[in-house]
Amino acid sequence: MPVMSTHTLVLGGTGKTGRRIVEQLRAQGVSVRVGSRSLPFDWNDRSTWEGALDDVSTVYVSYYPDLAVEGASESIGAFARQAAGRGVKRLVLLSGRGEPEAQRSEQELIGAGTEWTIVRCSWFAQNFSEAFLLEGVLAGEIALPAGDVPEPFVDVEDIAEVAVAALTQDGHHGQVYELTGPRALRFDEAAAEIAAATGRDVRFVPVPGEAFHAGMLEAGVPAEEAELVSFLFREVLDGRNVTPQDGVFRALGRAPRDFGEYARVTAASGAWS
Ligand SMILES: NC(=O)c1ccc[n+]([C@@H]2O[C@H](COP(=O)([O-])OP(=O)(O)OC[C@H]3O[C@@H](n4cnc5c(N)ncnc54)[C@H](OP(=O)(O)O)[C@@H]3O)[C@@H](O)[C@H]2O)c1
Repeated sequence: MPVMSTHTLVLGGTGKTGRRIVEQLRAQGVSVRVGSRSLPFDWNDRSTWEGALDDVSTVYVSYYPDLAVEGASESIGAFARQAAGRGVKRLVLLSGRGEPEAQRSEQELIGAGTEWTIVRCSWFAQNFSEAFLLEGVLAGEIALPAGDVPEPFVDVEDIAEVAVAALTQDGHHGQVYELTGPRALRFDEAAAEIAAATGRDVRFVPVPGEAFHAGMLEAGVPAEEAELVSFLFREVLDGRNVTPQDGVFRALGRAPRDFGEYARVTAASGAWS
């Protein structure tokens, strides 16, 4: 039986994945509660969790800032158990691609005893247009501590569609979906796709990890955030994720969107103008 919706709580509901999930759910007539600090829902203030969970049957769980940070799994476990205790029937977790802390978060969420779906994601294509890589694209130079390791960038539109299916339809309970794009690209190849789509000169410049870290601090990025970004480049781009996976096909019965299509649609939207 489909979960009879009271409300669906979408954590990170104003973010890259959550915003799209909110839109798609509302288009289907689902009653949505947008979980962000203005709800309020704050991962760092557990007193806000109770009210956010009031009369909620399903939750999209997107952690902030990143599942890889220390303490993420404890928070996710505590939240999932509280949700189960409040009568939530189904949890859908946005996860990483195998970082130990992300895997601990998955186990904590599964242990809460609700129906569950894990949505493991490679790097978001939208990091180039809605996050920290946008500035580099606009400047025409994406300078990163990434070398020749390709990444099967996943389109956030695909993540949202999979999450909405898992939140609203039966058949996704107990599934771990590995979501990637259909092919892995090196960062210089991704830059070339963006250059082709925009008609502008956009280049990738590899920089050593230490210089990249120092550059972030000089640019005023808070030390904690700089450490997290550096850690993610070291940890995630280690070659383990190069092989595209079939999660989008398993969840939706269709192929994932290609990076080239993402680049064309994003260029047409004016996001890189
Ligand atoms: N980017 C990638 O390539 C990638 C790949 C795999 C997995 N992930 C995972 O994706 C998650 C991030 O999701 P996203 O990219 O969709 O989000 P996002 O675009 O970074 O947006 C962050 C969301 O979290 C909310 N938020 C910020 N601080 C918060 C807090 N203290 N408590 C509660 N909510 C807070 C923000 O709203 P307010 O500011 O209004 O509170 C916003 O809705 C992370 O867990 C990361 O590990 C990312």
